[in-house]
Amino acid sequence: MPLSPQHSLADVPPEPGFPLITEGMPATSVFARLDGLREQYPAFHSDDRPGFWTLTRYADIDIVLRDTNTFTSRSVFVGNPDIRGRWWPVMLDPPEHAPWRRLITPYFTPRAVEGMTDWVTSRCESIVSSLAAQGSCDFVSEFSLRFPTGVFAQLMGFPERDTDQIYRWQQKIERPGTGPDRQHQVAEGALSLAGYFADLIAQRRSAPGDDLISAALNWQMDGEPVSDDDIISLCAMLCSPGFSTVPAQLSYIFRHLATHEDDRQRLIADPALVPAAVEEFLRLYPVGMIGRKLARATDRGGCPMQAGDMVMLAVPAANRDPRAFPDPLSFRPDRPETGHLAFGAGVHYCLGARLARLELRVAIEQWHRLIPDYRIAAGADLTEHQSQTIWLDSLPLTWSPRPA
Ligand code: HEM
Repeated sequence: MPLSPQHSLADVPPEPGFPLITEGMPATSVFARLDGLREQYPAFHSDDRPGFWTLTRYADIDIVLRDTNTFTSRSVFVGNPDIRGRWWPVMLDPPEHAPWRRLITPYFTPRAVEGMTDWVTSRCESIVSSLAAQGSCDFVSEFSLRFPTGVFAQLMGFPERDTDQIYRWQQKIERPGTGPDRQHQVAEGALSLAGYFADLIAQRRSAPGDDLISAALNWQMDGEPVSDDDIISLCAMLCSPGFSTVPAQLSYIFRHLATHEDDRQRLIADPALVPAAVEEFLRLYPVGMIGRKLARATDRGGCPMQAGDMVMLAVPAANRDPRAFPDPLSFRPDRPETGHLAFGAGVHYCLGARLARLELRVAIEQWHRLIPDYRIAAGADLTEHQSQTIWLDSLPLTWSPRPA
C-alpha cells in the first residue's frame, strides 16, 4: 500500500525508518532493508531532513530517469534541494545538458577506454602483487581506495600523492556525518576541493599536460571559453565516481567473492565469465542512489508529489525487484541481458560506465591471478555506511602469502 504524504515511515511499524545517512550498520543491511521496503511500498516518504520521497520499484525508477521534464536534475543531492552551483553535466537538464556532456565524451569513448587498458591493468597488477606477499590486507583502504583513485588521478592530471588529501575532502562532502556541523563539513570539503583544483588549473595553464584538465583549458561553449569555475565544477563532479563509486562497488564485489567460494572458483576456472559477472555484481549490489527534484506535481508510486519535493531513486531496490528480475537475490552471471540501473538510464546514463567496467573487470582478473584463495579475516565484523552511496567500512581479507 502506498503511503499518503501525511504518513512517514516512522508511522509504519516495524520499519525503523529510512534515514538519509546511516553509519555502522551490518554489511549489506541497507540492501536487505530496501528489499523489504520495496515489497511493502512502491514509494514512501522519509522525514529525515529535508524530507524526501523514495521510489523502490524498477518500473517507476526507469520511468523517472527518462522523464527529465518532471524529475529534474537541478539538485541530485536528496539532502540539499537548493544546492548552489552546478555540477555539470549531471545537474543540467535538457536541452542545456547535451552540449556540456559532449565536451567530455571523447574521454570515455570505446577507443579512449581501450587506450587506457594496458595502463589500468599494469597499475592494478602492481598494487595486487605488492599486497600478495602480505597475506592479509584491509581491501577497502589498501586496494579499493588505491587502484581506482590512481586511475582517476592519471585521467585528470593530478599528482597521485595528492589522492589521500582529495579523498579526505571528498569524504567531508559525501560522508559529513549526522552531527550539527554537518553542513559545515560539506562546505569545508567543497571549498578545499575548489581551491585545490583552482591551483591545479593555474599550473596547467602555464605547463599543460596530456590530461583532462589541460584539455579543458581549450574548451568552448557557445563561442566562449569554458570558465575556470565550470572546470572546477566538473572536477568536483568527477571526484564522486573517482573516489567513491568505483571503490565502494569493488568492496561489495570482493565481499561476495570472499564469502561465496563456488562463485569465486567459477570465475577463476573460466575468466571469460568475468565481464558478465561484473554486470551481475552491478545489478545485485549497486552502490549508488540517485536524486531528483520535482519540477511539477505528479503522482508516482501511488503518492502525490509536489513541485520542489526531492525524490530518492533507490537503485538497489530496483535492481533486486522480482518484478524485473527472476530470482533477484541470486548471483547468476549467465543471466540474459538485464538492463540493470546501476549506471542510471536516459540522458544522464553514466558516461564513465565503460571505464568503470574496465576497472572492475581488471580488478577481479588481476586479484584472482595473484591471490586466488582469500577469505574474510576470522572475527571481522563487517559494517557499512550509507548516504547516497553505500560503502563497506572495511573488508579485512586473509590468504596464504606469496613470495614477493
Ligand atoms: C561502478 C562505478 C560507477 C557507477 C555505479 C556510476 C553510476 C552513475 C550513475 C547512476 C549516474 C547517473 C546519475 C544521475 O542520473 O543523476 C552516473 C553519471 C555519471 N558518471 Fe558514473 N558511475 C560509476 C563510475 C564512473 C566513472 C569511473 C566516471 C568517470 C571518471 C563516471 C562519470 C560519470 C559522469 C560524467 C556522469 C554524468 C553523466 C551525465 O550527466 O550526462 N562514472 N554514474
